[in-house]
Amino acid sequence: MINPDRFLADLHHLRSFGAAGVGNGVIRPAFSAPDIAARHWLAQRMQDAGLQAHIDPAGNVFGLAEEKSLLMGSHSDSQPTGGWLDGALGVIAALEIARAAQEQGGPPVSAVSFQDEEGRFGTCTGSMVWAGAMPLHEADTVTDRDGISFAQARAAMQGKADTFIAPDRFSGFVELHIEQGPTLDAAGEQIGVVTDIVGIRQNHITFEGQQNHAGTTPMAARRDAFQAVSAFNTLLNDRLRNIVTPQTVWTIGHVSLTPNAPSIVPGKAVFSMQWRDGDLDRLDRMEEVINDVATQIASDFGMAMTNVPRPAMVPVAMDKTLRTALENGAIAIAPGRWRTMPSGALHDATNVSSVLPAAMLFVPSINGISHAFEEDTHEADLIAGLQVLDHAVQALGARL
Ligand code: GLV
Ligand code: MN
Ligand code: MN
Repeated sequence: MINPDRFLADLHHLRSFGAAGVGNGVIRPAFSAPDIAARHWLAQRMQDAGLQAHIDPAGNVFGLAEEKSLLMGSHSDSQPTGGWLDGALGVIAALEIARAAQEQGGPPVSAVSFQDEEGRFGTCTGSMVWAGAMPLHEADTVTDRDGISFAQARAAMQGKADTFIAPDRFSGFVELHIEQGPTLDAAGEQIGVVTDIVGIRQNHITFEGQQNHAGTTPMAARRDAFQAVSAFNTLLNDRLRNIVTPQTVWTIGHVSLTPNAPSIVPGKAVFSMQWRDGDLDRLDRMEEVINDVATQIASDFGMAMTNVPRPAMVPVAMDKTLRTALENGAIAIAPGRWRTMPSGALHDATNVSSVLPAAMLFVPSINGISHAFEEDTHEADLIAGLQVLDHAVQALGARL
């Protein structure tokens, strides 16, 4: 039997690795010291539960049932400043379901925490490598914003095996996650069964002008990299207007100015340009506009420009059989308080869906807040998510 108290205790314990800020904040980016410590703790918890712990070369932590099994899980790395549930919930729920399955003799479930879902290096790097969408040697060359490579970062983690677990050891993948948006909370609902996950693209753009004195350089003579970024943003918003839908999103989330000092005209700006949509064609058209606008602004402002794509992910639909099992669980556990919905956040389930049937379940985020220290979910909703997973596993059990 699943044990909600044990599940909540483990979830709170995981937060202690990298606990920060007010409320329930966490700072646990991939391969940081708290992330590595959390992964070792998790491997031990898996071992204690009767699962075989396996840390693969990318830092993904698996707790394996002996026989072919359903795989459940998510990620335990966090954003540079993040919340306690993003990823952690799905990992600890998987641990609890797999542990209960060990205790009661099936149906067999394995658990996983994928590495770098939050994109310190790429985008869902651990599951991308595991699912074969990116070779490890290629992931190894991706750098974080301080120039540290995935290869350097993963070298710091002891206890890795030199093999990857073959996906055909599993019959499917189910990921529980917080919604990270306002829909369920605003509607007073407890469960979202995911239909599709959006696709994402991201570029790193650099404008390089001329660093100069902020008091003596006439405005007309400046090649100010910040002004170029600002104009890029304004022109882009205008040019995207006829392409996007109300569901399309795009974000300049990281900007770094050099030298970043009040009395210096900035000579260089490096920034992230990210866009997401459920439609592949729209992602393509947005990309064309983004590239055009970057080229035009560089020319208008006299900037040298580089525009480098980061690893992308395509939009995917969830598996019908697994989805139906989750829907039946939602009907049983949260009657009248659940819905089907798309995911605007990225998830490891996207990568896993290329090698296994995959599905996802959401519980509400209070006030729709996530990727922030304030991220939280009512305890009753966390437990409802666990119970829906359990219901689905029991129903699927005979067929897996
Ligand atoms: C992953 O957390 C995302 O950015 O959606
Ligand atoms: Mn997540
Ligand atoms: Mn996240």
